[in-house]
Amino acid sequence: MKIQVLGSAAGGGFPQWNCNCRNCAGVRDGSIRATRRTQSSIAISAGGPEWLLVNASPDLLAQIQASPFLQPARAARDTGIAAVLLVDGQIDHTTGLLMLREGRRLPVYCTAQVREDLTTGHPLFNVLGHYCGVDWHEIVPALSVDSETDGRFAVAGLDSLQWTAVALKSAAPPYSPHRERPQPGDNIGLFVRDPASGRSLFYAPGLAEIEPHVATLMARADCILVDGTFWRDDEMIRLGMSSKRGREIGHLAQSGAGGMIEQLRAFPHARRILIHINNTNPILDEDSPERAALLAEGIEVAFDGLPIEL
Ligand code: MLT
Ligand code: MN
Ligand code: ZN
Repeated sequence: MKIQVLGSAAGGGFPQWNCNCRNCAGVRDGSIRATRRTQSSIAISAGGPEWLLVNASPDLLAQIQASPFLQPARAARDTGIAAVLLVDGQIDHTTGLLMLREGRRLPVYCTAQVREDLTTGHPLFNVLGHYCGVDWHEIVPALSVDSETDGRFAVAGLDSLQWTAVALKSAAPPYSPHRERPQPGDNIGLFVRDPASGRSLFYAPGLAEIEPHVATLMARADCILVDGTFWRDDEMIRLGMSSKRGREIGHLAQSGAGGMIEQLRAFPHARRILIHINNTNPILDEDSPERAALLAEGIEVAFDGLPIEL
């Protein structure tokens, strides 16, 4: 199985258009050692020309241009994107769907809750109905993974891989009908196993809490690609940029008791990589003590174009 990180930043990207935090200003003027990043998306293939796009970022067109394998050019009009899977209905994970409107009918895999967001508060599916049209494939995420088949679903064109979705504690977007009354299915984590290699990935770019069923999948995974949004839970509050804690908007911060670093120590066997990194996160500065702390833990920081083979 091949995984390609297309975009490793959280919503807003890095640098964010209107942000003058130390990181955004520093990457613009070259005063810190850091790499620009586009918004959150990965692609997965079984090794062939067909890819599942997992999340459709607002930066999708630039990501496709940076990824020649997504344009195999087998016909006058063609794409390597066989289907799209959405882990939630957030702007940074869905807006790129509009950029695929010139193509053939678009197979989209997501939960009923995300479909509701995308036909009401943020009606992208309705809009796309006037262009390519959407073929919705429902994902019913598991709440527990006692049996290996809990949460299993199939992706047409990528049938050789085993796909499992689990419900996660994170947050529905502000325009969601369930922003204030969270439901299982607002956010999912994805476990993908390639029976050919026996190796697997757990992917959860928005994760507020590592519940037991999530820990079970992390323990099974050879690679954990997980929420790296904030270093501190009160990062945005301290910077005067928001009144909300990371956890309130669905993201478990890396530092502190019970933080992501501490929790990832339970899975030393896996390659552990942070993704969906907010532009304010000090780990983006490659010379920061926070980045050094991750390195000491053996935790990597995803970057755009990072290939992972499992
Ligand atoms: C999030 O991950 O919390 C959202 O994507 C934030 C946003 O893009 O506004
Ligand atoms: Mn996001
Ligand atoms: Zn910034």
